[in-house]
Amino acid sequence: MKDFELIRKDFPILEAKVNGHHLIYLDNAATSQTPNCVIDSISDYYKNLNSNIHRGVHFLSQKATEKYENTRKKFKDHLNANSTKEIIFTSGTTHSINLIANGFINSLKPGDEIIVSQLEHHSNIVPWQMLSEKTGAKMKVIPMNNLGELDIKIYEKLLSNKTKVVFVNHVSNALGTVNPIKKIIEKAHRYDAKVLIDGAQAVPHFHVDVTELDVDFYVCSAHKFCGPTGVGILYGKQRILEELPPYQGGGEMIDEVTFEKTTYADLPNKFEPGTPNIAGVIASGVALDYINDIGLDNIKKYEDKLLAYATKKLKEINGVKIYGESENKTSVISFNIGDIHPYDIGSVIDNMGVAVRTGHHCAQPIMDYFKIPGTIRISFCFYNNFEEIDILIDSLKKAVRMLS
Ligand code: ALA
Repeated sequence: MKDFELIRKDFPILEAKVNGHHLIYLDNAATSQTPNCVIDSISDYYKNLNSNIHRGVHFLSQKATEKYENTRKKFKDHLNANSTKEIIFTSGTTHSINLIANGFINSLKPGDEIIVSQLEHHSNIVPWQMLSEKTGAKMKVIPMNNLGELDIKIYEKLLSNKTKVVFVNHVSNALGTVNPIKKIIEKAHRYDAKVLIDGAQAVPHFHVDVTELDVDFYVCSAHKFCGPTGVGILYGKQRILEELPPYQGGGEMIDEVTFEKTTYADLPNKFEPGTPNIAGVIASGVALDYINDIGLDNIKKYEDKLLAYATKKLKEINGVKIYGESENKTSVISFNIGDIHPYDIGSVIDNMGVAVRTGHHCAQPIMDYFKIPGTIRISFCFYNNFEEIDILIDSLKKAVRMLS
């Protein structure tokens, strides 16, 4: 097993003091922290490599292009895609989902159906709702149960020959539930429906194999796995991406342009117009190497222990109610304490240096299900430790004493 205490030294921000206390960072589902190697990669790029890719014959451009395209290969290998043509760099998961939703704009019509789950982040609801309004396709919802799990029996009933796209997250950002996506994909394919999986909260925590899943689209963001913000990774099956129209027009996504007609470039360029976040993409590859060096199996085992320990400790506090208690969950705990507003607890423990997220976590349908305005959410990364959980628990107890 890796020495996770030594790993902490790779993250300069973990030395920070907040409100006079050592920072205890438990908001990793919002964004993870950045190790020195990723920070150095960004700095090195601007010091030594800054240029535009795919456009210059000069040394810097060639070198930057090589690093950018090598990074595409790293993600292709990591996700086990068939080709680098299947990996598109975007600005994040939200961008990727909008890109794919837009791809269906000409093919959906009234009478068609699209299926979403009640466990989704708003970014995997609103783009499809917009698509539904534009095309007349009807949106149906897979409901959840009290444990925060999707009802697969109802999902089976929602599926029909009218179903064209199904979009579900791999891991719920609000509850941590790991959804049975292989089953969801397999059932959708019986009706020839395409499936998009939002993997933003999965890729940082365990291994994902898109070929084994036979998924049509899989999307994630680099900043959730220790990379920089502003980089999304979109996997799509080559055959399907080739059929989709481009999302945005501009340079690099074209084959030939005249005022009469433009023809588009091959994959992946067709979906990457304009100058991309070159430094960010290259640094995302460094982040990927970093987590692979630790090993996703080690990460999963360690984070599962943190999750079990924190769950047990939280339950010892009077009045704690945890939302989402599926046996299949990872690295996220959502809870409330008595009838104290989550925001009040979040603010009080922030004064003690403890960073958590409070509110609806961009997942209002989940909060509506539980009839609550929001929760306190703690979310782990592999650099968190048991001592930090003890400090969190003490801070929560103090907050409850102050607010009761
Ligand atoms: N999606 C991010 C979260 O869950 C921002 O906090």
